Amino acid sequence: MPIFYNPEIKIFTLQTQNTTYQMKVGDYGYLLHLYYGAKIGENDDLSLLAYPLERSFSGNPNEAGYDRSFTIDTLPQEYSMFGSGDFRSSCLIPVNPDGTREADLRYVSHEIESGAAAPQGLPHVYDNGGEAETLKIHLQDPVSHLAVTLVYTVFAARDAITRYAVIENKTTGRVELEKALSACLDFTHGDYDVITFWGRHCFERAVERTPVRHGKIVADSLRGASSHQQNPFMILCDHDATETAGDCWGMSLLYSGNFIAECEYDQIWQTRLTMGIHPHAFRWVLEQGESFTTPEVAMIYSGEGLGELSRRYHKLYRHNLCRGQYKTSRRPVLINNWEATYFDFDDDKLVKIAEDASKLGIELLVMDDGWFGKREGDTSGLGDWFVNTQKLRGGLDSLCRRINALGMKLGIWFEPEMISEDSDLYRAHPEWCLRGPGRAGVRSRYQFVLDMSREDVRQYLFDVISGVLSSANLEYVKWDMNRHISNIYSGALPAEKQGEVYHRYILGVYDLMERLTSAFPHVLFEGCSGGGGRFDAGMLYYTPQIWCSDDTDAIERLSIQYGTSFSYPISAVGSHVSAVPNHQTGRVTPLATRGIVAMSGTFGYELDINKMTAEEKEIVKEQVARFKEIYSLVSDGDYYRLTDPFKNTNYTAWQFTAPDQSRALLNVVQVKMEVCPVNFLIRLRGLNPGARYCVQAAPLNATQRFEHEGTVYTGAALMNAGLLIPLLKGDYAAVQYEIIQL
Ligand code: GLA
Repeated sequence: MPIFYNPEIKIFTLQTQNTTYQMKVGDYGYLLHLYYGAKIGENDDLSLLAYPLERSFSGNPNEAGYDRSFTIDTLPQEYSMFGSGDFRSSCLIPVNPDGTREADLRYVSHEIESGAAAPQGLPHVYDNGGEAETLKIHLQDPVSHLAVTLVYTVFAARDAITRYAVIENKTTGRVELEKALSACLDFTHGDYDVITFWGRHCFERAVERTPVRHGKIVADSLRGASSHQQNPFMILCDHDATETAGDCWGMSLLYSGNFIAECEYDQIWQTRLTMGIHPHAFRWVLEQGESFTTPEVAMIYSGEGLGELSRRYHKLYRHNLCRGQYKTSRRPVLINNWEATYFDFDDDKLVKIAEDASKLGIELLVMDDGWFGKREGDTSGLGDWFVNTQKLRGGLDSLCRRINALGMKLGIWFEPEMISEDSDLYRAHPEWCLRGPGRAGVRSRYQFVLDMSREDVRQYLFDVISGVLSSANLEYVKWDMNRHISNIYSGALPAEKQGEVYHRYILGVYDLMERLTSAFPHVLFEGCSGGGGRFDAGMLYYTPQIWCSDDTDAIERLSIQYGTSFSYPISAVGSHVSAVPNHQTGRVTPLATRGIVAMSGTFGYELDINKMTAEEKEIVKEQVARFKEIYSLVSDGDYYRLTDPFKNTNYTAWQFTAPDQSRALLNVVQVKMEVCPVNFLIRLRGLNPGARYCVQAAPLNATQRFEHEGTVYTGAALMNAGLLIPLLKGDYAAVQYEIIQL
């Protein structure tokens, strides 16, 4: 069993295959964090990791009398709290019925259960059967009686621990939570680097690594969505941690709204990570007996560098977070009409695209924005989810039949959370927008945001979307969200509950997604928010894939997909081949390169296939066949980042290896050609050192001869000596090598 409690030393030890997490009920009942890292024994008592020293200007619990050696201001805490002596970042700030802002939580009891715990109404990592064990530690403030349960689930074989907190009002009156984070992770030593993922529209999840410094480093969002600008994922690692070596700790929040991830480096060089819902504009009212559940955090430690940290997240999220039929079955290769037609399409145009696509092995046509209401452009129609019969003259069912007759599936785009002023829905229900009384509201992409905290809004959306999905054989939905939330105010809630709206909005989105994904289990849902503006682990619970970026340029995608891969599996990365010159950058890249880059994701096309030459169509046909052939390697294989595109501007390389090491795929894009190049060597990873492998160029780029063709090496040679990257002609050329065990 992975969870141990030693009552003599009052130590909890959480064991995974390769890691240990330890905490202790310390003096006076404080729950202290002891250790998280490489595996140690369950009876190792690590309570002496911090000096029992007097620390000036750090207070002592009253029960300590005149003993000044115990202070929660410097001792590592499991769930830091405000007002009772810890001056560092707190997870919890309650306003008690008497007006005090103070929590003084002490251990009361605990229980251990088999299986995974599930935070009510929130996404969570789940147990497929016999994989998990859960520890619940009950804490309580002896004066206010506010109670907190810390819930930890251990996924031993995945080397992952999830946690969240439940705060219960057992006081004598109303409590208001000003801050209620999900987790705190303390280190009693540590001079580390912190890695965050920043960005903007069309440039998501750029990797930023910086040494911790005294004070705080914060990644956060107050945009009502997890956002393009920062991602709810943070890594702490050794200064010299690399892809293949070093200690790294990841904290990933399963949440899609406002968040904060904070790294604090304190006066005695201790590091604290905290993560959860952003406290700004948050105030949750708890009447007596009510409780509040925080979102879940998934923690993973790797002692073998960042690559292994990512692979552990990939496996956890692929097997224990994504759901539905498409968790395991192969997803269809799709063609999306957005960059082909934008709003300018009708049924015949779509059928024509499908006709050509079906001949090339493409399996799904996604009809993007513009099929509904009065949606000629982006100024109108959102909210009116009724077929525009001027565009789809025979209706949706007729279009679907025509597409199905070609042997293809049909998918459809929605932006459920939004409303256009020029829409029937807005004319009927202006009060359904998020917007304060008397305020006109900020427009963004000409649209307003629906109040997803309202049950009547969600019921309308459920009825109208399920009506559409039932009206034809639709097998895919793209769920978009194309603006951020300002003017936060719900007309359905009293003034004192307005601090709950951001979170209630996300709970509402999750509720609607749960209802729709359960009602239409055969439908593949893809998340989207102006590309990857809501690419987070919360969304992956409902949509196993997410459109990674509105920037479809293959070269730009090298760094966007690189950053995304730190915490999210490749099977989740929505990636398409688009036309050249690229619509966002104007860059012209070879079709082979665009194919190789898009194949490191869900794979599909986003261009007018009718405009392609016969030769290009042949290449598309080969690419589609190739992707189907390598599908399991890409979606279930181990992913290795071989270069860092932010540092190496000459070429980018990455690799997939089959779990049994019998096959690998090496991908190289030459970003910049050099005439008299240095010897660029790539050392492969994750192969069986003793096995012999044959190196072959993949059929899709067999137009020129490559070095290494047919050469046989041992895994040891490929991993230690490496392969010279081939001499490719031209900027943006690419090659995919197949490494097959003999
Ligand atoms: C967003 C998406 C695009 C496309 C448009 C349609 O920007 O990211 O892929 O669906 O909306 O309006």
